[in-house]
Amino acid sequence: MAKVTVIGAGNVGATVANAVAHTGCVSDLVLIDIKEGLSEGKAIDMMQTAKLYGFDCRIKGVTNDYAATADSDVIVVTSGIPRKPGMTREELIGVNAGIVNTVVKNASAYSPNAIFIIIANPMDTMTYLTYKTSGKPKNQVLGMGGQLDSSRFTYYISQALNAAPSDVEGIVIGGHGDTTMIPLISKATYKCAPVEKLVSKEVADKIVADTMVGGATLTKLLGTSAWYAPGAAAATMVKSIILDQKKVFPCCVALEGEYGKNDICIGVPAVIGKNGVEKVVELELTAAEKEAFDKSAEAVNKTNSVLKEMGLVK
Ligand code: APR
Repeated sequence: MAKVTVIGAGNVGATVANAVAHTGCVSDLVLIDIKEGLSEGKAIDMMQTAKLYGFDCRIKGVTNDYAATADSDVIVVTSGIPRKPGMTREELIGVNAGIVNTVVKNASAYSPNAIFIIIANPMDTMTYLTYKTSGKPKNQVLGMGGQLDSSRFTYYISQALNAAPSDVEGIVIGGHGDTTMIPLISKATYKCAPVEKLVSKEVADKIVADTMVGGATLTKLLGTSAWYAPGAAAATMVKSIILDQKKVFPCCVALEGEYGKNDICIGVPAVIGKNGVEKVVELELTAAEKEAFDKSAEAVNKTNSVLKEMGLVK
């Protein structure tokens, strides 16, 4: 009898809702947007696929009516502007921080125990904003970035190996930015074989580079940011929470000493279950990976400092 709210019924929000409905683990799903009619229309369109796909989730669309979101178990925040070609995710902060701040306050009032999954960009900073302003414990606020970036990483590896993506394991940590994410090529495997042993250094470097600009590549092609993989990535996180699967996903979480960091939300592997973030998994990193993680954290902190300048976080 789980209830999920998705805030923002644009490309990403609607895709999250659709993907969550297909997991079969949610009985009620509310799609909410500020734009009159948008979420109602998309929710009805999705409900008209229920018979065809055979899912039984009730999807309801509402315009800015937070009472309809009451008692949600999980709330996914996608409201905010996406980037245009040539923009970085960090450039969205001015508009998106205000939007995220408002919607989190509105939604928290009706669902005080909900676990928040943040997607709006710059995602690490929007997760930090939510954590700092919602008063929620750190396990109830997480950001979707690492799970998406890792899926893109395994895609690029599978392309290089001419292999099935599902046979590839790869993980991306650090910030969810073109220059801050860290695809851990040293830990990537194809059916237990280290990827670094299967491809040349040149190919490995290209896989890493392509992964880092994976989102920007799609933005250039689409004219806006991507939605299928972000939607699917968020749905895996929702499912792991609702079904208490305790899956390990790279995602953006508040660190208190782990990886030597404090007062930051950044991508690391974590066990995701009914309590949200149940445990941060500390990987053994090489010296170069540690250095990259430190640099990434520095960049995320710099973006977070804008929240202070905006007066949103003390
Ligand atoms: N409350 C509710 N919905 C809002 C609000 C608000 N205050 N402000 C904006 N929205 C809605 C818009 O009306 C729009 O329907 O958020 C939706 C955003 O949808 P898109 O413009 O299609 O953007 P999308 O591609 O879904 O990206 C959303 O996710 O991946 C990130 O970088 C991306 O920050 C962006 C977010």
